[in-house]
Amino acid sequence: MNDSKSKSEYILEVRGIKKSFGGLRALKSVDLGLKYNEVLAIVGDNGAGKSTLVKAFSGAVIPDEGKIYIDGEEVKIKNPQDAIKLGIQMSYQDLALVDCLNISTNLFMGREICYKFLGMNFLRLKKMSLEAKGHLESLGIRTIGNINEKVRNLSGGQRQVIAISRSVFWGNKIIILDEPTGALGVRESKKVLDLIKTLKSKNISVIIISHNLNHVFSIADRIVVLRHGEKVGEKEIKDTDGDEVVKMITGAEFAGKELK
Ligand SMILES: Nc1ncnc2c1ncn2[C@@H]1O[C@H](COP(=O)(O)OP(=O)(O)OP(=O)(O)O)[C@@H](O)[C@H]1O
Ligand SMILES: [Mg+2]
Repeated sequence: MNDSKSKSEYILEVRGIKKSFGGLRALKSVDLGLKYNEVLAIVGDNGAGKSTLVKAFSGAVIPDEGKIYIDGEEVKIKNPQDAIKLGIQMSYQDLALVDCLNISTNLFMGREICYKFLGMNFLRLKKMSLEAKGHLESLGIRTIGNINEKVRNLSGGQRQVIAISRSVFWGNKIIILDEPTGALGVRESKKVLDLIKTLKSKNISVIIISHNLNHVFSIADRIVVLRHGEKVGEKEIKDTDGDEVVKMITGAEFAGKELK
């Protein structure tokens, strides 16, 4: 995708994004760029504005000011459908899956393969199962078990893996994950982190919000720190460490200064 036709070093970029909720300034003119084939981590304390920022990309929040660019071209994202059409998919942990349906049906939700018989639509369940299985295998996911298993019987980590897999099922190039390992144990988190590495190897660009700096350091290429609605730091992962990031998050040593 990052070929000679690309006009920007960023697949996704925002400039001057501002958002207030009543008198509360959740985002105070933030600039952010996601590079092609990059895993970008956004970190910051509770209430720093991380979720509000990424919701502007997914159409869940409409900014008061600011511009959004994809491949260097300005785009308008007014609702989640706009974002999806532009290839941006946000993955939430539980919200996205339907418990009483199986893995395959969940992957195909909203885009089911059907055939018509006597004027009625029927699902091509076998075809969907086979395609779903192939998709999960292509992402290196073999541990989930039966593709016809009901989602309610899966663990939190398995559900998260399925939710993320669905995000990339439809050819999306930008995946946004808001605390994908927030509720998971060590082994389950590892599965999710491994999947994010696989996405990167498939040329997908990922934004991940996380409070877990170990997770961030294990998968991200770059890290952006928000504090009180402002970007206070931006570093290549290889050029920073946990101590520095914690200081940026809390403002302990760098209050009022921008680190670059
Ligand atoms: N819909 C809303 N209405 C009113 N205030 C909101 C709304 N959404 C967010 N806020 C406020 O905006 C600020 C930023 O919230 P946001 O959810 O973006 O923080 P966050 O960095 O994601 O925090 P956390 O790590 O706790 O998820 C907070 O003070 C929050 O209370
Ligand atoms: Mg949040």
